[in-house]
Amino acid sequence: MALAEFLAELERFQAAAAEAFGAAADALALEAARIEFLGAKSGRLRAVQKQLGSVPGSDKPAAGKRFNDAKTVVESAFAAAGQRVAAGAAQGALATTFDPTLPGVRPRLGHLHPLTQTIEELKDIMGRLGFTVAAGPEIEDERHNFEALNIPPSHPARDPLENFYLAAAGVAAGAPLLLRSQTSTVQIRVMEKTPPPVRIISLGRVYRPDTADATHYPMFHQIEGLLVDRHVTMADLKSVLRLFASSFLGSDVHIRFRPSFFPFTEPSVEVDMSWHDTKQSGTTRWIEMGGAGMVDPRVLEAVGYDPEEVTGFAFGLGVERVCARRHGVTDIREFYRNDVRFLHQF
Ligand code: DAH
Repeated sequence: MALAEFLAELERFQAAAAEAFGAAADALALEAARIEFLGAKSGRLRAVQKQLGSVPGSDKPAAGKRFNDAKTVVESAFAAAGQRVAAGAAQGALATTFDPTLPGVRPRLGHLHPLTQTIEELKDIMGRLGFTVAAGPEIEDERHNFEALNIPPSHPARDPLENFYLAAAGVAAGAPLLLRSQTSTVQIRVMEKTPPPVRIISLGRVYRPDTADATHYPMFHQIEGLLVDRHVTMADLKSVLRLFASSFLGSDVHIRFRPSFFPFTEPSVEVDMSWHDTKQSGTTRWIEMGGAGMVDPRVLEAVGYDPEEVTGFAFGLGVERVCARRHGVTDIREFYRNDVRFLHQF
């Protein structure tokens, strides 16, 4: 091949390559152009290089120099095109993911668990009636869980199968410990330390080996109330519970006492609260919330109070129950599943 012919070929190659690299709109098109012009095996640069071999010997140095120049020019055109395409891609990505006019992504904020909200609100309601909050341990001895509450050893509530006894701790020493089965323990703990009058509530966890179902769980919460003073009557108990119910569940909620028995109160009642079943066109239904009564004189004696001087009332209600009634929750297990789809509704 004559030198002139070779140079013309080189010229065409250089121009075509520069145009193709300049026109490549994205990385994919640029890569196709690279393979066509600079591909190691069958690229057009390779083809031109082969033709160099057929240029007459005396012209070879000149041809070779021009070839190298052309190669450098084409390669830098490719590098420039590469930078241009990459910058364009970055800008494109920015344009599609960042729209400054869109509202920001708000992180989902957590809030208090519905049972904690209930506990706080109940403290508030009872606080307005002058009740202060008292606390007691969750691991108890038999005196506070049973004996001082006038629950004799023969009582079915003391059956080991009805309680979580802590086997190793204390049994050997003759002083068994158990997870408290009721918050009534706190009545004793407060009265042991404080002379009358007392006016307290206590809210916390209690434990019973119940099989979990829609209304039972081996751990649940109670609100306990105790008022001991001169001339306390059952009318006081009823008006306090009535206020409690209407403040938490609505002003149209009524309460009902049914005769019952608890060893630590005399007389004793079951406390029901009313609600309107909207599924049954607003029929009034009753739900049992817990127990109450006038503090048994034997309990007052057990803590050193004089039953001739003071009387008192006590009550113990289920926190899950009042919370479930307020929100229409039909299965208390929902409170413990930790499913945010449930919890976020409160
Ligand atoms: N402690 C009882 C229970 O767990 C509830 C109860 C009943 C508490 C009567 C009281 C009361 O204070 O007076 O079932």
